[in-house]
Amino acid sequence: MAKTLSIDGKRLYSSLARLGKVGAYKDETAGVIGVNRLALTAADGEGRRLVTKWFREAGLRVTVDKIGNVYGRRRGREDHLAPVMLGSHIDSVPTAGRFDGCLGVLGALEAVRTLNDVKAATRRPLVVAYFTDEEGCRFGTDMLGSAVATRRLPLERAYALKDRDGLTVKGELKKIGFLGHEPVGRLRPHAYLECHIEQGPTLRHKRRDVGVVLGVQAISWAELTITGKSAHAGTTPMSFRRDAGLTASRLNAALREMTLSGRYGRDMRAAMGMIRLTPNMVNVVPGRAVCTVDLRNPSDALMAKAEADFARLCRKVADQDGLAVASRRTAKTPHVPFDESVQALIADRADRLGLSHEPILSGAGHDAQEWSRVCKTAMVFVPGERDGISHNPREFSTLKQCADGVNVLLGAALVLAEEA
Ligand code: GLV
Ligand code: MN
Ligand code: MN
Repeated sequence: MAKTLSIDGKRLYSSLARLGKVGAYKDETAGVIGVNRLALTAADGEGRRLVTKWFREAGLRVTVDKIGNVYGRRRGREDHLAPVMLGSHIDSVPTAGRFDGCLGVLGALEAVRTLNDVKAATRRPLVVAYFTDEEGCRFGTDMLGSAVATRRLPLERAYALKDRDGLTVKGELKKIGFLGHEPVGRLRPHAYLECHIEQGPTLRHKRRDVGVVLGVQAISWAELTITGKSAHAGTTPMSFRRDAGLTASRLNAALREMTLSGRYGRDMRAAMGMIRLTPNMVNVVPGRAVCTVDLRNPSDALMAKAEADFARLCRKVADQDGLAVASRRTAKTPHVPFDESVQALIADRADRLGLSHEPILSGAGHDAQEWSRVCKTAMVFVPGERDGISHNPREFSTLKQCADGVNVLLGAALVLAEEA
């Protein structure tokens, strides 16, 4: 069965297109239609209701846990056994395409639809899931739902997180109708699999059909608050200024230099993705800047060194500029290696389907890294066109690329679901 069963690529692609209409907007910079389904907004709620309806139509029994993760369960022949779980997320960054996360959720749903078409039963139950706020752009902490479900983050701490307007995760979950009742932290799947777009250029450039994901690199996020003094832009002599905007720019430039210095290996990456100035007016020297710092490194040791050096740099620049720089860590995850037996299974399934594959370390964070603490876990990557651009409305993978990845996902899931 595992060798021959093939998903319906057109059905998968049209589901991706339909979900991509929820939160669609015209992106003036990219010149194309993008997707904005920021976590726990009305658009996220609408996307959730659509996908949940599809879960039910596929015969899945739907439950929602206390952090709003949604699970659709398909019975197994030995239904008491721990399930094989397939999942990802449907929330998005505000400038997204239609594939990031959605491919993993709708691909898993397509796998179930395919099994339903041929009335195939699996020994273990299957669970298709989507997790709350994987992106972390609204409340500041990524992989939020899966981190709570796997006990890395306490539920109450997650509930209390606030967005920029002071709205809490708990309140917003309630508002969109996804504050569920299922307890968190109890689910122990037999295995977890996730199909996701690569979000980078490697597979496409190497002309590989799929990626076998080795693991996820370390991620460290912080929020800096720079406090200077707002003043008149025309009358205040330059030497009197305490310009928080200038300090943010200096830190951003120094961060880039640090990143490219080679002291943290060749694969260090950093971004200051948000800089918010107050009062943000043409004729006022900014008195306050709040900015985010995103650091990534495959090595935990090099990441620790980069964090310490950047903290030192912040103190030095604050001193030089005569203002205060406070730093607050908002998220941190170590390098996470995936299960080697599941990686081998994914490579084997790709071989059997005649698909070329490549081992690859993930640059992006994923729900899979959370589940890997509780069960054997690995991921399948799908190449992206346009240099694999992602977190951008121009993100694009072809129907065949998506179908190949999901066929590998299905093949691997079927093997895991027959295991004792
Ligand atoms: C998730 O998309 C991340 O920021 O890596
Ligand atoms: Mn994602
Ligand atoms: Mn993403």
